[in-house]
Amino acid sequence: MPETILATQQQRIEERLRYYEDLGIRLFYRDREATDRTPAVVQGSPRSALVEASLLPKPKTEVSRKPAPHAEPVIAPRAASLFEVVDKVADDTLLKIRDDIGPDCSRCKLHRGRHKIVFGDGSPSAKLVFVGEGPGADEDAQGLPFVGRAGKLLTQMIEAMGLQRKDVYICNVVKCRPPENRAPEPDEVAACSLYLLRQIDVINPQVIVCLGAVAAKTLLNTTRGISSFRGEWLEWRGRKLMATYHPAYLLRNPPAKADVWKDLQRVMAELGLQLPKKKSS
Ligand code: URA
Repeated sequence: MPETILATQQQRIEERLRYYEDLGIRLFYRDREATDRTPAVVQGSPRSALVEASLLPKPKTEVSRKPAPHAEPVIAPRAASLFEVVDKVADDTLLKIRDDIGPDCSRCKLHRGRHKIVFGDGSPSAKLVFVGEGPGADEDAQGLPFVGRAGKLLTQMIEAMGLQRKDVYICNVVKCRPPENRAPEPDEVAACSLYLLRQIDVINPQVIVCLGAVAAKTLLNTTRGISSFRGEWLEWRGRKLMATYHPAYLLRNPPAKADVWKDLQRVMAELGLQLPKKKSS
């Protein structure tokens, strides 16, 4: 039997909705638990449809309110990013950060499907840090970043720069594998961001390279598409940052490798690196 509401309750709901309407509130969100219950109907009254309709936002054509004279357009202030407001942690080390994450972190829902936490790998005094998105299946199995197919391509890119993986530091925005390799969600990024910030602060590299949109958007606190700033020098907590395409994207779009190589050559110039000499046979 569906739940019923009395006509008096119905009237009170309508009054309350009119009151909200007068306040300019037209958008209502459904209580998740309530959606699991059977919807209420008004006994013997066609007014339930009216209540339902009142809960929907009104079509724009019905709203013909003029703006108040001299009203300034309201622009929501950009929320300050953690990366802009958190000070460097005194006497921090990579070991302390790893300890703080703990052996069995459950700060976000990614822990449910995770096998290994992928903290990061490479030189603690690297001049160059690569930041990826999050571990994939191979990384989750081994506990090391960028060891799968995309990782092999990253290794080749690093070697083309005349470096070895051990010379740089490689880490990710989130330390646990997102299911089905989906992009990490905002709550997951938020739960892990402080550790990434501390890792980069401790290493204090000259250059940070963001691999792909997730890393770039997270560190730069922007929603802009990566193509609009890829290959440009940007600033992050007093250091040079460049965003380039993710190696996984290059596996699907090999022609984009040329752009990434151009970006990496700019990074090499910044670090004073020469192209490695070809081995003579
Ligand atoms: N992709 C990433 O972003 N990070 C990894 O560690 C592996 C694949």
